[in-house]
Amino acid sequence: MTERIEQIETEARAAVAEAGSGAELEQLRVRYLGRKAELTSILRGISELEPDQRGPVGGAANRARKGLEQLFETRSDEIASAELEQSLAAERIDVTLPGSPARAVGHLHPITRTRRLIEDVMIGLGYQVMEGPEIEHDYYNFTALNHPPDHPARMLQDTFYVEVPEGGDSGGGSQDVLLRTHTSPMQVRAMEATPPPLFMIVPGKTYRRDSDATHSPMFHQVEGLAVGEGITLADLKGTLLAMLREVFGPDREIRMRPHFFPFTEPSVEFDVSCFRCKGSGTLRKGERCALCKGIGWIELGGAGMVDPNVFGFVRESGYEPDSITGFAFGFGIERIAMLRHGVGDLRLFFDNDLRMLEQFS
Ligand code: DAH
Repeated sequence: MTERIEQIETEARAAVAEAGSGAELEQLRVRYLGRKAELTSILRGISELEPDQRGPVGGAANRARKGLEQLFETRSDEIASAELEQSLAAERIDVTLPGSPARAVGHLHPITRTRRLIEDVMIGLGYQVMEGPEIEHDYYNFTALNHPPDHPARMLQDTFYVEVPEGGDSGGGSQDVLLRTHTSPMQVRAMEATPPPLFMIVPGKTYRRDSDATHSPMFHQVEGLAVGEGITLADLKGTLLAMLREVFGPDREIRMRPHFFPFTEPSVEFDVSCFRCKGSGTLRKGERCALCKGIGWIELGGAGMVDPNVFGFVRESGYEPDSITGFAFGFGIERIAMLRHGVGDLRLFFDNDLRMLEQFS
């Protein structure tokens, strides 16, 4: 009998060593240690043995059982950890990989993007970005910008006036409150608030009674102002050139033509060389360039040296008209965006037609 017990144990040990999975091991446990196992029935039948057999058989069977129980336990642990290793390897995920976030639902409006581009360039040149009120006083929009009362230049800009309710404070005078017709009023407000040197741009909404393919009652401008000691027209030209090369490409040139603005003296209009025909006015097959209308130059905005009369309005803030100089410039953001993206009608920017706007995502 003890031999049989040894046999069972040897057989069981061999089988356990072969077992490859937890399920297999469990089957073996039932076979060798379960209720119907041979070893179990030997143990159960000890009392029926001859008295002198009971001791040795019982002892051997119990040792075998204990040994096998321990073996199953060790093997079970081994298999469990091997299985864990395996599933960890198979199901490994790289948590450092980038996720796949949902696509952004929207995107910036082309005018916003153009504005930010210009801001980035000018911040790079050391300018600060300022904002000003869209509802403005006649004083800042015209008077302090050297438009004397009844000056015809006031009529050039079709102004929206804001009616001030009776008893309301208009700040003085009739027609005193208006929607700013340009961003230039911020020149005066900025100088009132900040002593020189001052380098700033003002992007923002402006308003005029005007509506066609290149005009909208609401549109956007960027104003620029640089004031300090010894600033000249050459600085203006260099600044505009640096900015426009960032916006329209490194090969661009600029030119300035004499013009008139009440708040600059001398005043100019500035053009950038056409980026489609490279300034030649003609395309490859001798065709006239439609973008610049064959001129080779594209008109962009107005500029000039700040008129000393304007400094006269902010003398108290440290702007002494006799000693300080500065330049200013202004241009439309829509015009830049239209040129950069080949948009033929300015009103398309404000129609909210997604077929148009989604082309700028
Ligand atoms: N404010 C002018 C306009 O809207 C543009 C302009 C011209 C701005 C000359 C300036 C400047 O700063 O110096 O027509």
